[in-house]
Amino acid sequence: MPAPIPWYQTAVFYELYVRAFRDSNGDGHGDLRGVIERLDYLADLGVDCLWLLPTYPSPLVDDGYDVADYYGVHPDYGTLADFEALIEAAHARGLRVIADLIINHTSDQHPWFQASRRRQDPYTDYYVWSDTDQKYREARIIFLDTETSNWAWDEVRGQYYWHRFYRQQPDLNFDNPAVQEEMFKVVRFWMNRGLDGFRVDAVPYLFEREGTNCENLPETHAYLKRLRALMDAEYPHAILLCEANQWPEDVRAYFGGDPNDPTVPGDEFHMGFHFPVMPRLYMALRRGDRTPVVDILRRTPPIPSNCQWCTFLRNHDELTLEMVTEEERQWMWAEYAPDPRMRLNLGIRRRLAPLLDNDRRKIELLNSLLFTLPGSPILYYGDEIGMGDNIALPDRNGVRTPMQWDSSANAGFSTAARLYAPVIDDPIYGYRRVNVAAQMANPASLLQRMRRFIAAYKDLPALALGDLEFLDHPDRGLLGFRRRYRRQTVLCLHNLTARGIQVQTPDAYDVLANLDWPGGPLTLPPYGYRWLVVR
Ligand code: NOJ
Repeated sequence: MPAPIPWYQTAVFYELYVRAFRDSNGDGHGDLRGVIERLDYLADLGVDCLWLLPTYPSPLVDDGYDVADYYGVHPDYGTLADFEALIEAAHARGLRVIADLIINHTSDQHPWFQASRRRQDPYTDYYVWSDTDQKYREARIIFLDTETSNWAWDEVRGQYYWHRFYRQQPDLNFDNPAVQEEMFKVVRFWMNRGLDGFRVDAVPYLFEREGTNCENLPETHAYLKRLRALMDAEYPHAILLCEANQWPEDVRAYFGGDPNDPTVPGDEFHMGFHFPVMPRLYMALRRGDRTPVVDILRRTPPIPSNCQWCTFLRNHDELTLEMVTEEERQWMWAEYAPDPRMRLNLGIRRRLAPLLDNDRRKIELLNSLLFTLPGSPILYYGDEIGMGDNIALPDRNGVRTPMQWDSSANAGFSTAARLYAPVIDDPIYGYRRVNVAAQMANPASLLQRMRRFIAAYKDLPALALGDLEFLDHPDRGLLGFRRRYRRQTVLCLHNLTARGIQVQTPDAYDVLANLDWPGGPLTLPPYGYRWLVVR
């Protein structure tokens, strides 16, 4: 008997911003009870696992990634009991739930920081303090649009403290064993509420060492391996998903095992985001040339057989351009963010549909690639109906607007007079036109196509588990590949161009069209795609 397939290797994920999803108590903010009200929608869509963005008490400088209390729920979202009720209700529908775990930093409002700045033990060394701001100068600044240094001066303590993100997010000092233990306590607390794992935030930055860029250090990996050992011992059903916006060879290290031998099981993270492939999908599409995607996947090392990549087209942050060259970044900005308001830090703060000029063919094409290339797909809430963005809102808020459920007031999101953010209400992406109810009723809608993708993905284990072999078609506008698992071979064809491209195909079954394909020459229409199960 072959070993059973771990659930996360074949799962479809749905990234959910609780504040935006559904407001159950009419205060203008989405909440946990609201998510419960919409679980049937998510189950019907066919996703397997929800990833909840942070719900901790927080001053919301970084929308909850600045945690003020690791053991609570932000009052906007509800209570701990609501959190547990959500997990239970999700499980009752066969949905799993993972949540953000933010271990690198806290809010400056966290009691640990308040005590640390006053040198109150045991918190004195909970953060990274220094008399000078000249240490660790090789570490890059991540929030380039707001911060000019990774050090900030604290009047109370009379020292600088280290922060990789906003200055209101001091980094915890992982050299302090007490901090390491605190995080294990936090992990146990949330796992005991019933979670199925964590998306672990900002993992490359846990430790600092002079003479390095303070990323991906051996000490960081050693700590994360201890975290994994805890999970394996106490919560073996659950996963750790790694957020490391790094090159594939650097992310490979976060799976653990033996970097030179993928047959050795991973002992760090179960899953890791594949950041570099994401901008290259947009690049390949705009250039009508598969090369960027093929190159990055060829350069991606094999991972242990108990691990899986996570892939995505968009998320709650800016579309990051950290993992491209300077020249490519300038090109991406020129092509996809012509208005400076669309840019943020090293990225583009727009949603999927507007990035693709709301061209249904291109939206489907990129989603088809998301489902057919290696890695578990993650959908970002609202992208399944082609929601728009609001670049008038600051920071990343423009891609965090209320979910558009129907054409009633407030898009069916809330009954409040004032919402945490305005509903999108323009002629193209506005809620009267783009909403769940309308797309549910329309068999030709994007939502129905997404449901079809998900259902077909689940019928085809080769897409989740198969190996990858690119077709060497003479036209580089054709991104074609085979995914093979046991006796199943799926031929996936994508036309990245605005012209027809002819491909020779074998006798097959066309999964999405639901018809037999006798084989022979096939002309893919502009931006067309096919999933063919080879006979
Ligand atoms: C990554 C998160 O996705 C982002 O939203 C956040 O600002 C940073 N980590 C800092 O926690």
